[in-house]
Amino acid sequence: MASIERSDPVILGHLLAEHRELFTLIQSVRTAFAEPGEPSSDRRAGVVQSLRLLRCHLRDHFSQEECGGFMEEAVTRIPRLSAAMRSILAQHPALLGELDGVVARLEATPESPDSWTIAARDYENFAAHMTAHERRENAVVQEGYNEDLGLAE
Ligand SMILES: [Fe+2]
Ligand SMILES: [Fe+2]
Repeated sequence: MASIERSDPVILGHLLAEHRELFTLIQSVRTAFAEPGEPSSDRRAGVVQSLRLLRCHLRDHFSQEECGGFMEEAVTRIPRLSAAMRSILAQHPALLGELDGVVARLEATPESPDSWTIAARDYENFAAHMTAHERRENAVVQEGYNEDLGLAE
């Protein structure tokens, strides 16, 4: 399989770069929520726009991972990682759903300061779940390649 011939540090580096890019988008929404001042309708619209952009990137990223991405290569090398990969990929719909919930909250009650606060809190929960998710992915890919190369303990 051609993809397996790629050098491992390049593959791992590519995955880490994609995760860093997502992290930057996640941070920019976090910053927008944290800015001081009233949650005006303009500000809400800006956050919703950033959330939609993040969702687009996230959906593409998830699709790549689900269609024979880096984790699948790791599993090809080390089949016992298969269960971990399946459980990680199964988290994707819930993560997108969390993000949709934040947008829905901001749009459903545009005048309510409470909805802003709750949306910001829900977004923090989403961000924490995303961080944990990507950490698990990095670990699976790293483990797959390390073992395959005889670098594991
Ligand atoms: Fe993922
Ligand atoms: Fe990922």
